[in-house]
This record gives sequence, C-alpha cells and structure tokens, in this order.
Amino acid sequence: MRFSPCVIFVLLAGIFAAMSVAADDSHYSEKEPSRDGTGKVYMGREISQVVSQHAIGWLERRDREGEEKPSLVIEQLELKADDVVADIGAGSGYFSFLIAPSVPEGKVVSVDIQQEMLDFIESKKKLKKVANIETHLGTIEDTRLPENTVDLAIMVDAYHEFSHPKEMAQSLVKGLKPGGRIVFLEYRGEDPSVSIKPLHKMTVKQVTLEMEAVGLEFVEVRDFLPIQHFLVFRKPNPKS
Ligand SMILES: C[S@@+](CC[C@H](N)C(=O)[O-])C[C@H]1O[C@@H](n2cnc3c(N)ncnc32)[C@H](O)[C@@H]1O
Repeated sequence: MRFSPCVIFVLLAGIFAAMSVAADDSHYSEKEPSRDGTGKVYMGREISQVVSQHAIGWLERRDREGEEKPSLVIEQLELKADDVVADIGAGSGYFSFLIAPSVPEGKVVSVDIQQEMLDFIESKKKLKKVANIETHLGTIEDTRLPENTVDLAIMVDAYHEFSHPKEMAQSLVKGLKPGGRIVFLEYRGEDPSVSIKPLHKMTVKQVTLEMEAVGLEFVEVRDFLPIQHFLVFRKPNPKS
C-alpha cells in the first residue's frame, strides 16, 4: 500500500499529537499502592482513594461540630453577602449548607464528581428550603466552573483524594476571579497526634508546593482548629 505525502503528514501529525497528550501526564508517577492509596504520586505525595457516597452518614455525623469546629471556619472565611463560593469536593454538602446563610445575595456552588452526592444535596435543599445552593457535576480533571466567576473556593478534606490534582488546581485558578481566594481544610500532616490515615493528611509545605506550581500565591495558615489546617491562597490580581 502506498501513501501520498499528504496522508503521511497527517499520520505523523496525529502521532505527535498523541505523544504530547501522553507527555501531559508526566508530572505523575506510579508506586506500589499503600493501604488506602492509589499508587499514583504527585510532587512526592501518594494520592489517596476517593471517599464513596456510602460515607454520607459519616460526613453528616452529629459530633462533627465538636470534633472539627466547622462553625469557627465559617466565621474565619470572612464572607461578603454577595460572594460566589465554590465548595469543591462538596460530598454531602455539609459545608455548603453551613456557608449558604452567609451569602444571601450570592450563592454556593457545590461541586463533586459523584452524582449520588449531588442528589443528596438536592434533596436536602428541598427539605431545608435552601435556594442559594447550586449543584454542579465536575470531572476528575476539571471543575467545569465558568472562568473568573468564583470569589472563594473551599476544599474540605477533599484535595488529597483528587486523582488529577494538577489539572484540578489549574481549573480552579481559571474559575476564580482575579484576587479570589482558595481555602483548604486538611488534616495536619505534620502532627502525629492527629489520628487520621496518613494519606488523608497534608502538610503546609506540600499544599504550598502544589499550589505555587499552578501560580497561586500563599496568603496564610491559621491554626485555630483542633485537627486541621486552615490554609489560604490567592489568585494573583494583575490590577492590584
Ligand atoms: C472526603 S469527601 C469530603 C466531602 C466534604 N467536603 C466534607 O468535608 O464533608 C471528598 C469528596 O471529594 C470528591 N471528589 C474527589 N475527586 C474530586 C474531583 N476531582 N472534583 C470534585 N470532587 C471530587 C469525592 O467525590 C468526595 O465527595
């Protein structure tokens, strides 16, 4: 079989395109999975397994206020009434429902990759008659939030289980308004007294490394919570 130069050019272009897509995954490596881990490594950190929808009862547990003090978190978020807040990896929406009353003229966008989590949030919205929460299905690589629309993105015990943290962080940067903030609540990885599985904890150093890699600015760590860090980053605002 003989190919014309034009067909050969198209075939080669296709091969090079496929190679460049594969190379895009080069910031990840593989290892033998540890207990509760995926074996996928990003910037020296093994990514944990995803918490399934069967954990809704645990996410909604009554003693969460006593253990993690979420009401203190809401105060520290310093929200404005018209803010648009994206709760990324919202799960059952535990934090979305705590945040919603603080943004009566704005909204909370609850983003998750599991439709079952979003269905749970929709039924809770009806039950509690909450109008300013929107559910939003993301993908493992992309929040699919419109560009420059979010004032604050919050991730509670979620980022460490994102299978594509780099792509997720890049898509978060796109979704944030210039000067918009990202707040992480992660179990303190440096603290051996926090009895959470190691892959579900993160250190300040590691989160900062990963966020600076996508161009976010470190703002501060506020350690007022019993077992988690409250870490703040900002999308640079070229006008300020
Ligand atoms: C441990 S749960 C935490 C839920 C909630 N933030 C809370 O504290 O109650 C983590 C959630 O992140 C979600 N998740 C995992 N990867 C995700 C991704 N790439 N984008 C959005 N959500 C994701 C999971 O489906 C799960 O619901």
